[in-house]
Amino acid sequence: MTAHGTVSSKRPSMAIREDRLWQRHVEMAKLGATAKGGVNRQALSAEDIAARRLLASWAGARGFTVTTDPIGNVFVRRAGSEADAEPVMTGSHMDSQPTGGRFDGIYGVLAGFEALEALEDAGIATRRPVEVVAWMNEEGSRFPVGAMGSAVYAGRLALDKALAVADPKGVTVASALAETLAALPLPGVKLGGKVAAYVEAHIEQGPRLEAEGRTIGVVTAIQGSRRYAVEVVGEEAHAGTTPRAARKDALSSAVGIVTALEKLMDDPTDTVRFTVGRFEVFPGSPNTVPGRVYFTIDFRHPEIAVLDERGGRIAAVAAAHARGCAVSVTPLTDVPPCVFAPRIIDLVRDSAARLGLPHMDMPSGAGHDAMHIATLCPAGMIFVPCLRGISHNEAESATPADLAAGARVLADVLGALADR
Ligand code: GLV
Ligand code: MN
Ligand code: MN
Repeated sequence: MTAHGTVSSKRPSMAIREDRLWQRHVEMAKLGATAKGGVNRQALSAEDIAARRLLASWAGARGFTVTTDPIGNVFVRRAGSEADAEPVMTGSHMDSQPTGGRFDGIYGVLAGFEALEALEDAGIATRRPVEVVAWMNEEGSRFPVGAMGSAVYAGRLALDKALAVADPKGVTVASALAETLAALPLPGVKLGGKVAAYVEAHIEQGPRLEAEGRTIGVVTAIQGSRRYAVEVVGEEAHAGTTPRAARKDALSSAVGIVTALEKLMDDPTDTVRFTVGRFEVFPGSPNTVPGRVYFTIDFRHPEIAVLDERGGRIAAVAAAHARGCAVSVTPLTDVPPCVFAPRIIDLVRDSAARLGLPHMDMPSGAGHDAMHIATLCPAGMIFVPCLRGISHNEAESATPADLAAGARVLADVLGALADR
């Protein structure tokens, strides 16, 4: 290894291996594989445990240490020459949407791991430790608070609040996490460890890089997002006998509310993002007037003023369309827009340029764990293209060459940050 203090002419990108990185994606895609070629690997499920086990086995084989914290984030660390120096971190998530793709999240973990292996293979010693993190429950599809592990790590979500969140079957994060740790015991570390810098690689999940023929997205910002749970309570009644005037039909009311909210969110510039992604009708019987509806709202915009103004009107619009039912709107998450650190943005751009990779600056429409870690340290992100921008879909696709290109940029960025 190069002694610390000498300036190495080696760059870690030289040791990135496209075949190895691709093979690791193939192995991970087997865990939770779906018939349509995607994955269903939801947070703290048996499939997620299998992914944790596989990552830990690869880490062990390279002599990296593996630990976990009280919210179940997993850390893979390559030591630095100064053991106590704050680590440079990279990573993303291994959980997926229920009908997710093979790259969302796992790419950031595997690109980070490939960067660690490249540092090792090239014999490059860094001053700081370099750590790959698999953040727990980024998707929020099983436990409905997204980017949960990174939010707790950053102190933006209280640990006890996160542990109490339950999935639709009533299983809490606390009990699923206890099962996960029983199945794969790992040494524990405390929350709140300091971080020198954080850089996350991810597929773009949108169509811009492909359309513009660029390989690397230099991510400048992430738009803000808010999630809400809406419950509409009416009265169950017989479908054959109950006249219209006597009904309190929770579904009719909920449909009216969603239509009114779509009007509230109407935006000629198409910048507002408004989605009702879960809609549940109870008791769900063909011949009973629905007594209760639960639905979720995902609302995003780059400007906090718009989030405040339109978000602030959701409850009133819902109440105005209640049609005799009781309506409650509960805010679940509120993540402000995030602007990344200029020095990380510059480093990503310079590294892509030095590698001769076509690149462009761009904001992120999707949320990422980086938006929380950016409150702790200088942070940034690297995007690579995915086919037609398709994501949160089993058809998600990316090329081995593009994935490796992103890992090269990441490795050089991490190498540079770890020597500062
Ligand atoms: C992440 O998956 C998001 O919802 O943006
Ligand atoms: Mn993701
Ligand atoms: Mn996702």
